[in-house]
Amino acid sequence: MNERFGNVPASLTGITITPAHRDFFNAIPKVELHCHLLGAVRQETFIALAEKSNAPIERSEIDSFYTRGEKPVGVLRVLRALDEYLLTDPDDLHRITYEYLADAAAHNVRHSEFFWNPTGTVRVSKIEYGNAQAAIVAAIRDAAADFGLSARLIPSIDREADPDEAVALVEWMKQHRADEVAGIGIDYRENDRPPELFWKAYRNAREAGFKTTAHAGEFGMPWRNVETAVDLLKVDRVDHGYTIVDNPELAARYAESGIVFTVVPTNSYYLRTLPPEQWAERHPIRKMPELGLKIHPNTDDPTLHKINPSEAWELMFSHFGFGIDDLRSFMMNGIDGAWVDATTQNTWRKQWAEDFDALATNLA
Ligand code: ADE
Ligand code: ZN
Repeated sequence: MNERFGNVPASLTGITITPAHRDFFNAIPKVELHCHLLGAVRQETFIALAEKSNAPIERSEIDSFYTRGEKPVGVLRVLRALDEYLLTDPDDLHRITYEYLADAAAHNVRHSEFFWNPTGTVRVSKIEYGNAQAAIVAAIRDAAADFGLSARLIPSIDREADPDEAVALVEWMKQHRADEVAGIGIDYRENDRPPELFWKAYRNAREAGFKTTAHAGEFGMPWRNVETAVDLLKVDRVDHGYTIVDNPELAARYAESGIVFTVVPTNSYYLRTLPPEQWAERHPIRKMPELGLKIHPNTDDPTLHKINPSEAWELMFSHFGFGIDDLRSFMMNGIDGAWVDATTQNTWRKQWAEDFDALATNLA
């Protein structure tokens, strides 16, 4: 895995990743707060779904979707292809949800809050919202029974679509309430689609008792989008948020409030725009905790980024200069940011800290 990310020589960092480290990164009890369902589809499942639906996609093209070159292109067009050609009925959604949660559980993800874009499912795949959500929720329950992890669904606004679609999405959620459906997010291409366009959906979601988060400050988009998401939309956490490092005063305010930033070490934008030999050094993820921000590492689109939760945590240690104590605080940040009740959070804080400390002692 390391080689793909411009392996930082151990002579520079003093760090050699051993099999014991790998066991440790795997065993850390994890929440995952930033993962997109369609970005977590196994390659063999993609192929099977393409065959089932007679999708006009060549095998070589599917293979290219699952190839991550030195300058990775974004994954958004792959997600569009899934909506357009592959997902045709609720069983498909059950399958990809169950498989994603199985894969996450294999990396000691004990709780996942993952995104799904209903606008594409309803408008493009032509699966009715209630049936789609029911299939995903059923898969969450099946995975909980089989793998012991809990999960929440975050229906996420397609920001490339009309803001009225976002308002409609919140209405669908209100009509189909389920305990597993925790709140809304927003994703897809941020360029020219700032958070304020979606104020009404966010207001309605908040008034209906849903939690909220937003992708902001990704793709080099300005810190103002982070500010708008937090101060105008009043989100409970921020996804990415990297350009906050360009505004230390704002960062200080969010450090003070303790809002959690879900970050993605394999984010395509920085892999593409920073020179490989400087990627790890100049990555904004490094600076965020220096500014006092609470960050938490995630996979985003694991099968497409060719990353798993253990490796996302490993990159924080091997490439971004964080120590074992930092990883412990990231684990706690994840619990702070999770949309579960305070009793559960307190139980996890105590139990997971004990588990982490035992693992760290063992590693040392
Ligand atoms: N959807 C899936 N992955 C995404 C990302 N990295 N940014 C925006 N939307 C996404
Ligand atoms: Zn994302």
